Amino acid sequence: MRQKLVAGNWKSNGNSQFVEQLLGALKAHSDQVPSEVEVAVCPPLVYLAKAEELLRGTAFLLGAQNVSAFEEGAYTGEVTASMLKDVGCQLVIVGHSERRSLLSEAEAQFADKIRLVLQAGLQPVYCVGETLEQRRRGEALKVCREQLLAGVAAVTPEDASRLVVAYEPVWAIGTGETASPEQVQEVHACLRQVLRERFGEQADLIKILYGGSVKAANARELFALPDVDGGLIGGASLVAEEFLAICKAGINA
Ligand code: PGA
Repeated sequence: MRQKLVAGNWKSNGNSQFVEQLLGALKAHSDQVPSEVEVAVCPPLVYLAKAEELLRGTAFLLGAQNVSAFEEGAYTGEVTASMLKDVGCQLVIVGHSERRSLLSEAEAQFADKIRLVLQAGLQPVYCVGETLEQRRRGEALKVCREQLLAGVAAVTPEDASRLVVAYEPVWAIGTGETASPEQVQEVHACLRQVLRERFGEQADLIKILYGGSVKAANARELFALPDVDGGLIGGASLVAEEFLAICKAGINA
């Protein structure tokens, strides 16, 4: 059985004081996190080292929100996968829709990023998802399938089990609108099938998270779906009580 994973994507929010307060609150109430649920936080890049220090000795995992598509060298401003490993990260989000659309990140980079993240010994959390127009045109499954195949192009069957996929319909991110359980399960089952075709039995070990306006109030229903292995949480991960309640929803879901 796949272990549930709940990952908080803080995006470009917070400052040093906020990092201390939020991680302090999560640590103080870590007894509320069921041992069978893996929990990760992904603070902004500049706070990763501080977060690592604050989380040391706890079960919380640390993730980055982005990574360079290059291994090392003259790439001003880029942070490499091995640097993220060096400061204590275990996970890296790749291909978030905000990076695809607002920051013009090209799909062609994602396969390289995922390859380098795996090579560095980290787990990529690769985001896929359709826009509202694509869903209305009946293209949701096709778009997600194509994005997934493009991202995993360089993943070997031996590395496949370390991959994490996040289905994040663009129209549900930060909008308060969550995809219905039927919509979520349909896409997750399709993604699982694509992974089976690509990686065989290893596909059953790959976590597929749902992201897009997950809250304590809807998490349990979503996490209970057969192909949903947890969530990638944006806004609700910035409030300790709400995030912990979402983590709790991973138990027996
Ligand atoms: P949201 O963001 O939970 O605020 O909708 C999810 C995400 O972008 O990962």
